[in-house]
Amino acid sequence: MHFNILTVFPEMFPGTLSGGVVGRALVNGIWSYKTINIRDFAINNYGSVDDEQFGGGAGMVMRPDVLGQALDSIKDKGKIIYFSPRGALLNQKLVHKFVNDEEKIFTLLCGRYEGIDQRVIDEYGITEVSIGDYVLSGGELAAQVFIDSSVRLLDNVLGGGAESTANESFEIGGLEWPLYTRPSVWRGHKVPEVLLSGHHGNIERWRKQQSDEITKERRPDLIKEK
Ligand code: ADE
Repeated sequence: MHFNILTVFPEMFPGTLSGGVVGRALVNGIWSYKTINIRDFAINNYGSVDDEQFGGGAGMVMRPDVLGQALDSIKDKGKIIYFSPRGALLNQKLVHKFVNDEEKIFTLLCGRYEGIDQRVIDEYGITEVSIGDYVLSGGELAAQVFIDSSVRLLDNVLGGGAESTANESFEIGGLEWPLYTRPSVWRGHKVPEVLLSGHHGNIERWRKQQSDEITKERRPDLIKEK
């Protein structure tokens, strides 16, 4: 998987993506990225990439001529994604859809300021993606969330193979059950007896019941989705 990342802050990458399993996968060549500094395509020597909004209003908008040139500097753009709160909400199902896409190259456009000129989105047939119902100060964090959640699903990234993801929240149609490890008693708190019983059937039933309860309480919307 390869990511072209358009940003005015190339130094923010790889950022969080340099650590853990995703960082190791980067070193191992399972995924790669290249940053493109949008400022290299500024309209003047001051490095201007944005301008006032037509129609008035607070906040600057990233110029289409600058973004067009930045995008055109990339030979193989693959699927272009622009991160914005107006995009399709990224969930595990959507992550799988992107990962299973025939296209293995993604161009990630990270906006700053109020956003980007709509004509860029229309001209390039860009897919808009949001990582949640809140407003970030730029798309760079969203791009890292997108890359992390995608790369960890690729083969040979997680130690335990397919099984590592199979039991996670959202993959099981709800939220994951509570997890416990040694010591079996900590500050007087005991691990649920059933987990120490070695009875796989009972353990599985307990986990399913816990998962159902937690999902019903915290995220009833996930149950309706099923
Ligand atoms: N840019 C600003 N807010 C965002 C969000 N919620 N998701 C993705 N990109 C964004």
